[in-house]
Amino acid sequence: MNILHVASEVAPYSKTGGLADVASALPRAVAARGDRVAIVLPRYRTDPARFGLARRLGSVVVPLGAARLEVGVLEGRLPGGGGPVEAWLLEHPAFDRAGLYGEDGHDYADNALRFALLSRGALAVAAEKGFRADVIHAHDWQAAPSLLYARRGVAAAARTVLTIHNVAFQGLFAPSVAGELGLGAELLHPEGIEFYGSVGYLKAGIVFADRITTVSPRYAREIQTPEMGCGLDGLLRARADRLVGILNGADYDTWDPRRDPLIARAFDAAHLDGKHACKAALQRELLLPLRPRTPVVGAVSRLAGQKGTDLLCEALEHLLPERDLQVAVLGRGDRGLEERLYDLGRRFPTKLAVRTVHDEPLAHRIYAGADLFVMPSRAEPCGLAQLYAMHYGAPPIVRATGGLDDTVVDFDRISRSGTGFKFAEATAGALAAALRRALVAYQHEGEFADLARRAMAQDFSWGRSAERYRLIYRP
Ligand code: ADP
Ligand code: GLC
Repeated sequence: MNILHVASEVAPYSKTGGLADVASALPRAVAARGDRVAIVLPRYRTDPARFGLARRLGSVVVPLGAARLEVGVLEGRLPGGGGPVEAWLLEHPAFDRAGLYGEDGHDYADNALRFALLSRGALAVAAEKGFRADVIHAHDWQAAPSLLYARRGVAAAARTVLTIHNVAFQGLFAPSVAGELGLGAELLHPEGIEFYGSVGYLKAGIVFADRITTVSPRYAREIQTPEMGCGLDGLLRARADRLVGILNGADYDTWDPRRDPLIARAFDAAHLDGKHACKAALQRELLLPLRPRTPVVGAVSRLAGQKGTDLLCEALEHLLPERDLQVAVLGRGDRGLEERLYDLGRRFPTKLAVRTVHDEPLAHRIYAGADLFVMPSRAEPCGLAQLYAMHYGAPPIVRATGGLDDTVVDFDRISRSGTGFKFAEATAGALAAALRRALVAYQHEGEFADLARRAMAQDFSWGRSAERYRLIYRP
């Protein structure tokens, strides 16, 4: 089979979150099983020299409504393990910006055009390359229009798959873009691409995809409810026979404490002394007191209501004064939440370190150096951070929602089972109680080491999930 992926971010070229990791690892895992796989993404400001990208094609013309836009194409092989994946990065001035989707908390005003260009451009470049897609697999709202463009004649024979990584981001734009960008003005009605007076890119994908997937079984159920469907639950219920939840994998080629060049010392479940060295290195790097028996709790996350960052701030208000613990937070996002964390950090400089940048190597060092990891999400389609934390021996403290509920088993001291700590209610009190439970467990050295080893022994590699995607790719 020939499979064409379309995504707005793909690691290591560009990344703001888990989508980039999945859009990189899933194609390689599928290619490893013998299919021919290509992926199209915007270039943004990706450095061609760093990734061995070359310009082989002349410019490609992309028709968008009445307009004809020209894009350049940088080509290369997607880095990482698994099978070979051809990567085609589209160059256009509209992508050549400091951010991927916006700057300073504001989306770019021309995102409707930018991601229609990605979506339609992907089909144009595939045609130019002679790549006849049997399957077009679009990720999230930014790529969803490619399925509609394909359906409208450009690649009508291809089967189409939409993966919803987060139903809260829908790509809603003025209705005029339907005609202007060639999506089809006649589709501007509730059974088509209209969403309460706007054009909805994600909705267009849901309406027109042959198959719809999301990134965990529980989230597949959740998005069919009014509480969590963000207005698309009715449509998703109507298309339930086309919808399936397939758990994301973790790319253990990139995320492996036994051979991670970014961490202070390699370790595995049998050699946790390496992890102790990583903890000391992390404390040193973050200017926290070097105390081997003080538990370090890590967090690597977008700072947002969805991620429960406000719950974390509130819980820390209570815990930092009363407990012997250290917290390392790496994340960017909501300005108010950044400020709140900095403020806490100023009040408790020996207990809380905050870094509000995107720093891939530091993320690895936090997973490796932390004793525990916290992820109090209100909603979590799958979540990758908790999978990495488990693999690096930092049992996660998570809210029982979406993929967090599907991947973490609550610790039970009596039966010596579990891989982390779960709480149900989205309140600071419930989070603080779970954190306290984890801190008590940490005091029992032997039991806690067993818990960390159980977490490390979990296998979330991509194999099984890649096979499930291959099943739905079939006619
Ligand atoms: P989401 O995609 O909703 O943000 P995931 O848990 O699926 O959540 O994925 C988050 C990914 O982004 C992980 O790979 C995590 O390590 C990474 N990440 C989040 N914030 C940062 C940051 N500030 N610096 C580096 N990596 C980050
Ligand atoms: C989204 C979700 C996250 C998921 C990621 C990759 O960003 O918020 O839960 O892990 O996509 O699918």
